[in-house]
Amino acid sequence: MENLHLIYYSPALSTKNIICAAAKQIPLPIIEHDITQGIKEPIALSKADFAVFASPVFAGRIPAMAADIFKTIKGKNTPAVIMVVYGNRDYDDALLELKDISSKNGFLPVSAGAFIARHSIFTKVAEQRPDNSDINKITEFIKKSFTLAQNGNITKELKVKGNTPYKTPGKIPLKPSGTYKCNKCGVCVAACPVKAIPADNPKKTDKEKCFSCARCIALCPQHARKFKGILFKIAAIGFAKKVKLRKEPETFFIN
Ligand SMILES: Cc1cc2nc3c(=O)[nH]c(=O)nc-3n(C[C@H](O)[C@H](O)[C@H](O)COP(=O)(O)O)c2cc1C
Ligand code: SF4
Ligand code: SF4
Repeated sequence: MENLHLIYYSPALSTKNIICAAAKQIPLPIIEHDITQGIKEPIALSKADFAVFASPVFAGRIPAMAADIFKTIKGKNTPAVIMVVYGNRDYDDALLELKDISSKNGFLPVSAGAFIARHSIFTKVAEQRPDNSDINKITEFIKKSFTLAQNGNITKELKVKGNTPYKTPGKIPLKPSGTYKCNKCGVCVAACPVKAIPADNPKKTDKEKCFSCARCIALCPQHARKFKGILFKIAAIGFAKKVKLRKEPETFFIN
């Protein structure tokens, strides 16, 4: 194999951090494709490449914007690994959805895994994840995946957890906004995947456009953007109670 292509969508950076840490285990030159804010040129890979697709789970699905971009990425019998990262609630149909997208586009998934990271909205949930135990499991997963891909002859279809029709994602009414700490640096304005933050007043948010991805919060150097308000506080307490049982990574291999 010639190159390892990391193709990821990662608004709040956990997915990116996980996939980049995992990639260090693979002795191939790395080409990164961060699709969080769209792609400038089409991505088309060959049989000699090795692809890792990674996405967070939003409302049990691949975020709609990410799914639309993943659907444009083409392989040619290219071996692939499918990864989703979620905030300790559930990954529902997201892993199956991403596997299906890549299979339809010429990729041959050898493995798939669902891993846990801090919840990017309710940040007290899975706050310390991924931890050492997670990292060890991710490392083992990626090493085994690489061995399977190197062996070639991928004739079986990978089976993963999930259902069709995929879950209908619920709308998320929570939207972040800025605080007095904002110095109008413009980082969030440029980074928002859907341009929901006005340049002249970055404390505001266009609530119609915003899909609550938490990227502005993760990237603001002043820690000035937040989910706030009484509704958010109540939701955060209820959610944390509901998902307090620790979830463990789940992995699937072609054989
Ligand atoms: C809009 C939205 C919806 C989410 N839905 C889920 C979900 O259905 N299940 C879950 O366990 N975590 C959910 N999460 C948490 C993320 O999947 C998790 O924090 C992930 O690590 C975010 O990845 P990122 O840091 O790369 O953006 C959601 C987060 C956001 C922002
Ligand atoms: S990144 Fe933070 S400080 Fe910069 S404009 Fe946005 S909210 Fe303000
Ligand atoms: S304004 Fe909304 S869509 Fe834009 S980065 Fe922030 S949370 Fe994401």
